Amino acid sequence: MSDRLSGRHALITGGAGSMGSATARLYASEGASVCVADVDLVRAQALATELLELGNPALGVELDVRDSTQWQRAVTAAETHFDQPVDILCHLAGANFRVSFDEQTEQMWRDILDANLTANFLGTKAVVAGMRRAGRGVILHVGSLGSIRQGAGSPAYGVSKAGLVALTRSTAASYAADNIRCILISPGHVDTNFLRGNDDHSPNDWTTSIENPDNYERRRQATPLGRLCTPDDVARTFLFAASDDASMITGSMITVDGGAGI
Ligand SMILES: NC(=O)c1ccc[n+]([C@@H]2O[C@H](COP(=O)([O-])OP(=O)(O)OC[C@H]3O[C@@H](n4cnc5c(N)ncnc54)[C@H](O)[C@@H]3O)[C@@H](O)[C@H]2O)c1
Repeated sequence: MSDRLSGRHALITGGAGSMGSATARLYASEGASVCVADVDLVRAQALATELLELGNPALGVELDVRDSTQWQRAVTAAETHFDQPVDILCHLAGANFRVSFDEQTEQMWRDILDANLTANFLGTKAVVAGMRRAGRGVILHVGSLGSIRQGAGSPAYGVSKAGLVALTRSTAASYAADNIRCILISPGHVDTNFLRGNDDHSPNDWTTSIENPDNYERRRQATPLGRLCTPDDVARTFLFAASDDASMITGSMITVDGGAGI
């Protein structure tokens, strides 16, 4: 335990997920109060209970990031519980439907854009007033290789993650004078439930899941450093970006991909 985030108050979306929970645990171990926000309230509350046992203020809240009313409710709950504004916002929720352009429906397109891009706009709207009161803030988006190159496959996913490059710059430029930084962190192939499981927000079957050794190996070979990223690799970058070590970084993208985007 050290104190790189001592006195800070973080809200992490997708906080019950693979990268979200790794980030929440690391932030708590560095002294932050953590609001674990997820569409899955039961898992969010279970993680908050675990963090409380580490001795840090923590709270689990229900948040569907596609809904502006729920954003207001979640941020108010965190600020009331911690009696301080949220000064770190990490977006680690997201969605994908791994189908071709031909197969992607209008509803899939809207769902992915809502969860991966509009959500980030809504989240910024919800936290900026508090960050201004705090006199500081950091907003961290999760991109992907889709932020670098889009290729064939799920068009909405690549568009949403490339859109975050622009949203990050727009946010950074809009709020720099308020001492609010914004950074896009773009992981490569990360061994998480997003790629393994078959969840509503990220359906997989044998043709797409990394449970299939052929798919795992294809992603490993596409990573020059020779292994898939872990959730902790990504969490450490979320820690760096939120900390004062990154105090002059804003509007940038940091890749955590073992070279996969080269
Ligand atoms: N795993 C990878 O290889 C990889 C690579 C690059 C980027 N990403 C991005 O990371 C994010 C997913 O993180 P993960 O890999 O830890 O996945 P995960 O599936 O383990 O976790 C995602 C979490 O988000 C929650 N969630 C889903 N939809 C939500 C919504 N509408 N509102 C609130 N919470 C919601 C889920 O309940 C889950 O807890 C996505 O944005 C994805 O694009 C993943």
